[in-house]
Amino acid sequence: MKSLNVELGERSYPIYIGADLLANPGLLRRHIPGNSAVVVTNTTVGPLYRHTLNTALDGLRTETVVLPDGEQYKNMTVLNQIFDALVEGRFDRNTTLIALGGGVIGDITGFAAACYQRGVHFIQVPTTLLAQVDSSVGGKTGVNHPGAKNMIGAFYQPRCVLTDTSTLSTLPDRELSAGLAEVIKYGLLWDREFLDWIDAHLDALLNRDDAALTEAILRSCAIKAEIVRQDERESGLRALLNLGHTFGHAIEAGLGYGQWLHGEAVGAGMCMAADLSYRLGWLSQSDRDQVIELIARARLPIGLPPALDGQTLRQLMSADKKAINGTLRLVLMRELGSAVLVDNVPEELINETIHFYTEVHPRREQQL
Ligand code: NAD
Ligand code: GLY
Repeated sequence: MKSLNVELGERSYPIYIGADLLANPGLLRRHIPGNSAVVVTNTTVGPLYRHTLNTALDGLRTETVVLPDGEQYKNMTVLNQIFDALVEGRFDRNTTLIALGGGVIGDITGFAAACYQRGVHFIQVPTTLLAQVDSSVGGKTGVNHPGAKNMIGAFYQPRCVLTDTSTLSTLPDRELSAGLAEVIKYGLLWDREFLDWIDAHLDALLNRDDAALTEAILRSCAIKAEIVRQDERESGLRALLNLGHTFGHAIEAGLGYGQWLHGEAVGAGMCMAADLSYRLGWLSQSDRDQVIELIARARLPIGLPPALDGQTLRQLMSADKKAINGTLRLVLMRELGSAVLVDNVPEELINETIHFYTEVHPRREQQL
């Protein structure tokens, strides 16, 4: 087993990463202060892993809340199902909520933990690669509003993150690739050497080699932990984690949420960020092409979906949460492995990138 710490003073916590950790009662139990725990999971993950988790909780008063599966259920109505179970079961302030699932379950359970009795203990047990490298770390929790994604939430750190890499064996291929988009993101924004490592180990990662996945999760979490340590509340640095997201969110919104997975949209968005960085003279053409090829090899889309035209995409980018007073704020690359926040990117360059991806690039995609 590997582990690392997210250093946040009295809110610091460990991340444990390894195979078969769910079956290890000692690890979980040392982070459960009281004698009751409520596991929140969904109809897909629950049948696969809740039994193993419940065995590790033997001796505690436990209950399991099984939510419907899907991003469309990350909302206030479903959040209330968790509160209903807690109130009906008379769970007290010393209860621990355990999120067993992907990012949707982690986000909604964390928000429930932040709110119930003004805050109860919380543990993340992420079961998608995306959740293991990103959403389970850093304390962003919340639900969607019908009008906007992730609009209602709180910063609320878990007491620990228990990442059992064995759970990835049941993850669909498409979800694995979506998680790899976030792994590639860390290399692109922070660590050139990690990017080269991903490039060299991509086949092993796609083949779910446990040692390669463990290393990728560990290095991704170490980067996220360092960024969160420096900027927990996203006053600056943490926004770098949104590399590819302004383009990606616009793609998700334009297509209708659920058509592309978030990681797929981020993959295409990182290709666009690489192209714009090239047009600004920061990346060489071969750097840009290396990014596109890596994302394609990770079995992620590298062009815009044909259903989305460039003008709509540009309008949706301006509606992004990260736009400040109407000014577009983008995360771009100064060089591979080093991202920066940029305001005032010349409009004609943004349009050239969009043109490249709507008119020129789809033909390249077919050739790859
Ligand atoms: P998800 O939670 O919807 O999981 C994807 C699918 O995989 C679901 O159908 C799920 O039931 C299934 N699944 C999960 N684990 C499985 C397993 N081991 N075997 C088989 N199937 C499994 O999606 P996600 O990609 O994990 O997370 C996306 C969510 O995370 C979004 O809501 C996004 O807003 C949020 N997010 C939050 C943060 C943050 O910092 N809090 C960061 C990134 C994303
Ligand atoms: N996923 C972005 C963040 O945690 O800040």
